[in-house]
Amino acid sequence: MDRFNELRQLLEADRSVRRFEQSRPIDADTLRALVDLTRYCASGRNLQPLRYRPVYTPAECEAVFPLTAWAGYLSDWPGPDDGERPAAYLVQCLDTRLTANCLCDDGLQLQAITLGARALGIGACIIKSFKTAELAFVLTLPEHFKPLYVLALGYPAEKIVLEKMTSPDDIRYYRTADEIHHVPKRELDELIIK
Ligand SMILES: Cc1cc2nc3c(=O)[nH]c(=O)nc-3n(C[C@H](O)[C@H](O)[C@H](O)COP(=O)(O)O)c2cc1C
Repeated sequence: MDRFNELRQLLEADRSVRRFEQSRPIDADTLRALVDLTRYCASGRNLQPLRYRPVYTPAECEAVFPLTAWAGYLSDWPGPDDGERPAAYLVQCLDTRLTANCLCDDGLQLQAITLGARALGIGACIIKSFKTAELAFVLTLPEHFKPLYVLALGYPAEKIVLEKMTSPDDIRYYRTADEIHHVPKRELDELIIK
């Protein structure tokens, strides 16, 4: 039970972080250790077709950031300011020479990485909204590596709290004047089909 509670606490703490201590670097070894976690994930057909491009130099981070889109529900917020942008990224790519469809390997592996990052005190944000062709270009990705997700990483510089959902349609996260980010989550009873 202790391990269950530890896992639950880690999941509760594993929020999508969008403002970071940009000047606090995340090194190549840490990114490598995070990718190592993905080797233990389940994989459809055990094909293991996902690859990761680490991004951690300030120059590459600067090239990747403008290609990403942040927090669609915060319509008056253009994304993190200079100084609070990600210190690193992992770009998850599908090796299309192996398959055109990775089933749910992508999500499983992203979750393993974000949990591992959280355990190290590092915040993460899974980003699906990004400019694929431009990203492949700036990172000189070989054509057979198709970027699926950008995982932004950095030490958190924002407070995030979970909220009970007051209505089933109330899915939009929001930020209050005190700069706290609030994330509504459905109640357990809503998830269980009776
Ligand atoms: C598949 C997926 C795609 C996402 N894409 C983006 C994105 O493009 N930009 C962004 O700011 N957040 C993105 N997110 C983060 C979600 O907005 C976030 O998970 C959601 O608001 C709930 O917050 P939480 O992760 O703290 O529980 C994505 C999350 C997932 C799982």
